[in-house]
Amino acid sequence: MDYIWTPVVLIALLIVVTLLVILIDKFLGGGGERKITVNKNNVVTITGDDTALNALTNNKIFLPSSCGGKATCGTCKFRLIGDVEPPKSTELPFLSKEEIADGVRLSCQTKVTSDIECEVPASALNSKVYDAKVVEIEDLTHDIKRVRFEMKEDFNFKPGQYLQIQVPGIETVRAYSIASDSKDLKHPEVIIRLVPGGVATKFIHKAMIVGDKIKITGPFGEFFLQEKSNRPMIMIAGGSGMAPIRSIIFKMMDLGFPRKGTYFFGARTKKDLYYTEYFLDVAKKYPNFKFIPALSAPLPEDNWELEVGLITDVVRKFTDDLSGHEAYLCGSPGMIDACIKVLKEKGMPEEYIYFDKF
Ligand code: FES
Repeated sequence: MDYIWTPVVLIALLIVVTLLVILIDKFLGGGGERKITVNKNNVVTITGDDTALNALTNNKIFLPSSCGGKATCGTCKFRLIGDVEPPKSTELPFLSKEEIADGVRLSCQTKVTSDIECEVPASALNSKVYDAKVVEIEDLTHDIKRVRFEMKEDFNFKPGQYLQIQVPGIETVRAYSIASDSKDLKHPEVIIRLVPGGVATKFIHKAMIVGDKIKITGPFGEFFLQEKSNRPMIMIAGGSGMAPIRSIIFKMMDLGFPRKGTYFFGARTKKDLYYTEYFLDVAKKYPNFKFIPALSAPLPEDNWELEVGLITDVVRKFTDDLSGHEAYLCGSPGMIDACIKVLKEKGMPEEYIYFDKF
């Protein structure tokens, strides 16, 4: 019978040793008390070697983390101050040379093994988790929906910022730009395109219903309307990139559109357009505002009589010297990079080009 018991004893011994190692690591080894100094005067204390992202989240400092710490979104950046270790290979795709030199790292890939000092975007200190209810879902196109939430508490945000939705059923969260009027503190809205193969957008498009209760974190982001500026604005968006621009335009309308603003919206065919009539009407009401929708591949049945071409070509056609302007761009990385090139060709200084790539 000994031959039966030997493996059992061995397995039991292995379990006990593993548990001991975990406990020793937690309480004696790597698991001591650590301090994280955030933006100079916020100090949080943690026990154990957790990632900076988790440690900050547990202390109610919410960095964006659309991939939930899997190193696939690059949104959880923060800046370490002092002696900073080289980035891990998982961080490299998300960090520029300048950021690496400046101590910027992904907080989900940074283990806190000693006291550290870091800098996070100011918005991270104001973000929190909110209980929300879905109160409206509207089809805007064949693959884009608008979702309106109702919040229990006021949700303050700047036009252009984004929020994160904790999608029920999958562990992770997803980030979406806020599309609504920033003076309505109880009803943020998002505009979501169905991404082929995307678990979160599939849930939102196919399963989410009015009345669903979800958690929202935010607001996040350094892309927002520069309210104190008086530079004329160029706004460019494609697809669901309309969302933050819509929020920015709501704010500009509230202010009476005191400076010039031209909004270029690019889509492939007419079935990809939405809110066209709405923004053409806004342009009629506010002389400072111009709306230029463009289709890159209109179908004959679209009977499209407005602009045709890539949005970059349309921007090039309708703009001259942009050295005194500022720009707000939202869309795919490819579209944004191409637009930045055109804006710079037209003399726009880089520091006045604000963008949100998704
Ligand atoms: S949370 Fe996505 S890369 Fe860190």
